[in-house]
Amino acid sequence: MQGKDLLSVSDLSSEGIHSLIQDAADMKARGWLSVLSGKTLALVFEKPSLRTRVSFELAMRQLGGGSIYLSPAEVGLGERESVSDIARVLSRYVDAITARTFSHQTLESLANYADVPVINALSDLEHPCQALADLLTIYEKKGELEGLTLAFIGDGNNVAHSLMLAASLMGMKFRIASPADYGVQEGIRHLAQGYALGSGAEIFCTEEPQRAVSGADVIYTDAWTSMGQEAEAEERRRVFAGYQVNSGLLSLAKGDAILMHCLPAHRGEEVEEGILDSPRSVVFDQAENRLHMQKALLAMMLGGLEIPLAGYR
Ligand code: CP
Ligand code: NVA
Repeated sequence: MQGKDLLSVSDLSSEGIHSLIQDAADMKARGWLSVLSGKTLALVFEKPSLRTRVSFELAMRQLGGGSIYLSPAEVGLGERESVSDIARVLSRYVDAITARTFSHQTLESLANYADVPVINALSDLEHPCQALADLLTIYEKKGELEGLTLAFIGDGNNVAHSLMLAASLMGMKFRIASPADYGVQEGIRHLAQGYALGSGAEIFCTEEPQRAVSGADVIYTDAWTSMGQEAEAEERRRVFAGYQVNSGLLSLAKGDAILMHCLPAHRGEEVEEGILDSPRSVVFDQAENRLHMQKALLAMMLGGLEIPLAGYR
């Protein structure tokens, strides 16, 4: 970590996240704002994307800048060319790089060699931009974050990791229910527990979805099989069969609990058919808020706004 990059939610302080939420809400209200005129963002993607790609490209355009998308075939990270050379070449052209990689180490390597900021657009370890946008959505729906209970049902994956860190920084109660051997990584859990000591957050890991969901304000789930794990899909469908978010499980949450999913969703697997289209679901607000949060993030990281960020000290 060099302090110029956003590879993990842990690169941010709770104060920085609060500011980003305020700025993102402000940007949402104001629309287009030319604070990054003349700046360019490169998008280096090893995996497919709808939301992340479109929202980053549009964010740059709405801030007066531009973007260049580099598909997996074009870049060949570490195959056509070394990660270090790609980082150094791109640093001569663009003002920031956002990268979606299979391995988190590839991102770290890009960040090590790039002179410009590198933003994690999803790795096998974290999806920080998703978690930040999700905090904005929760804040919009509930009017607060501190003290709320967020129950994540399913795989202890990249999205779960970033949400756990974000919730623990913001003083939320984070519960996760995953099958044995599919829980969050120990390192992430320890980091979150450390943040919880300072923020008053509570972290609870269980194998029982009912215990996680009981009285929760927010129910969150994600695909059982993440990109790159396709060979395990059948096995995962079997292991996660009891972890579907359905109306029975939702009935244990608070009456006004909201349902979240980062998308893409597999209706009939991690979520019951129809439930993402019910009034409790806020999944399309989540998708929209990726744009507003990333505008706040890009404006801050590329010099358009002054916001305290732990890694930027
Ligand atoms: N939620 C999310 O990151 O979606 P994409 O994979 O489509 O970018
Ligand atoms: N956990 C999922 C998130 C997709 C946005 C994946 O990594 O495929």
